Amino acid sequence: MGFKAWYDAHVMPRMIRCACSAPGIMDRRASVVPLASGRVFELGCGGGINQAFYDTDRVTAFAGIDPSPKLLDYAREQARTKGWDADIRQGFGEDIPFGDERFDTVVCTYTLCSVDDPARVLAELRRVLVPGGTLLFLEHGHSPDAGVARWQQRIEPMWKPMMGGCHLTRPIGPAVRAAGFSVEPIGSGYMPRMPRWASWMEWGAAVRA
Ligand SMILES: C[S@@+](CC[C@H](N)C(=O)[O-])C[C@H]1O[C@@H](n2cnc3c(N)ncnc32)[C@H](O)[C@@H]1O
Repeated sequence: MGFKAWYDAHVMPRMIRCACSAPGIMDRRASVVPLASGRVFELGCGGGINQAFYDTDRVTAFAGIDPSPKLLDYAREQARTKGWDADIRQGFGEDIPFGDERFDTVVCTYTLCSVDDPARVLAELRRVLVPGGTLLFLEHGHSPDAGVARWQQRIEPMWKPMMGGCHLTRPIGPAVRAAGFSVEPIGSGYMPRMPRWASWMEWGAAVRA
């Protein structure tokens, strides 16, 4: 196994879980994830961090996909801890292995930054949602402040290979709207105690128009 394969298999999943569990991020998850209800699909469910926040009185079925075997191990362990019957599969958001209009809620947190093709993934998320279904999103991305955005552009080439292909400069709200969702209102802001180039976040409940 070469260094990159070893790093991606063993180091990067731990770094991702650690970075994605910062206190400000956990607070924000706690305001978004419990809104999920009915049949729920989580994109990029690896790591399993969100599972603690789902309200099992509201969720009737849970499915999730992620491409990373190591992060999927964490997600399956979380499902065992939670004691619920979760359908967790390996897969990519660009080609979601579920039929059309299968879910009432789709949850997507800190994943659009890492996928290869965000527009295609958002189209897939729309496809698997019932009409009127909700996409709950919480993502980091392109800062509206020019100075911060310049730092994001400078740091991104070093950050991406260390963090599993995570981009710092992707727009969030505009991408969600362009995919055929209505998003009102959208929450946004920098997370406390994090560098501004990594902590511009946008979140909301987007309805499949
Ligand atoms: C920064 S981690 C966030 C994990 C989790 N969503 C969370 O909120 O803690 C990014 C996740 O996106 C996953 N990912 C990367 N490319 C993907 C793709 N094409 N489709 C679905 N998930 C992908 C990674 O394996 C990883 O689990």
